[in-house]
Amino acid sequence: MFRDVPMLAAILLLSLGTGPYARRPEVGTAGHGFTIASLACGAVTVKLGNTELVRIGLGTNRLGDTPEHVAFVRETVPAGINFVDTAHLYVGGESERVIGEALHPVPEGCVVATKGGYHSGEGRPDVLRGQIEESLRRLRTDTIALYYLHRVDPQTPLEQSLEVIASYRERGVIRHVGISEVDVDQIERARQVVPIAAVQNRYNLADREHDDVIDVCEREGIAFVPFFPLRGNGDTATKLKWLLQRSPVVLPIPGTLSIEHVRENLAAL
Ligand SMILES: NC(=O)c1ccc[n+]([C@@H]2O[C@H](COP(=O)([O-])OP(=O)(O)OC[C@H]3O[C@@H](n4cnc5c(N)ncnc54)[C@H](OP(=O)(O)O)[C@@H]3O)[C@@H](O)[C@H]2O)c1
Repeated sequence: MFRDVPMLAAILLLSLGTGPYARRPEVGTAGHGFTIASLACGAVTVKLGNTELVRIGLGTNRLGDTPEHVAFVRETVPAGINFVDTAHLYVGGESERVIGEALHPVPEGCVVATKGGYHSGEGRPDVLRGQIEESLRRLRTDTIALYYLHRVDPQTPLEQSLEVIASYRERGVIRHVGISEVDVDQIERARQVVPIAAVQNRYNLADREHDDVIDVCEREGIAFVPFFPLRGNGDTATKLKWLLQRSPVVLPIPGTLSIEHVRENLAAL
């Protein structure tokens, strides 16, 4: 998507001087549903299908099934969150259940992303199918906007796991596909099976092991969702701003149970 250098340079020049919070022209899509809304890292949104995702999401791996946590999740949407990250694994399914209770039906313009196949053996087609069905029930939905293979299963070729997810995508039950904790070769293999809209890897100011993956994501127009975005020393805002500046495809998902922290994190945009 970055091959037309003169056109892109012109767009970049047009983008400059419009202020960091201005919406910028879209620069294209790679056909898998994810679109970089701007070449400039100051853009506040990226597009997944028709949905503009705010570039700070919500991580939910500590959500427990309590009325307080249901109320917290509901509060995050008017606060500005429209990208919620969960997984079949989190808190024994409580995270998905809380999100299902808080956000069903998922508000217009919001994306709930989930994942399956974390443990060894769980990438097997029958196991993964069972997890997808369970996530749909817990989230109280017929469709999952973004579904990641949580880990490449050492017992199952990644192609076999992704074929299961691809079959749900073909039926429209899963709209976009992601993979998590992968290297560049695995991304290339995955893309042979199904269009990949997002990669979720461990990445933060103190841990930049996946720099090459971000570069590939930027080149191919794939969202890069860093987990553990706040690990390492330093203040939260600096760490989030650094991630947002790293590449326009980066969309951090800081985990929090505090609405004040949600507001602070969104203020990094
Ligand atoms: N794909 C994977 O394999 C994988 C692995 C791990 C995690 N994840 C996902 O990534 C998300 C993020 O990871 P994480 O939650 O483990 O780590 P993190 O986002 O790097 O850090 C979370 C910690 O930061 C604190 N925090 C958040 N906002 C803050 C603020 N404004 N000021 C001060 N402290 C703040 C939280 O405490 P408070 O509750 O007090 O705010 C919590 O202790 C997870 O929630 C999960 O959705 C994915």
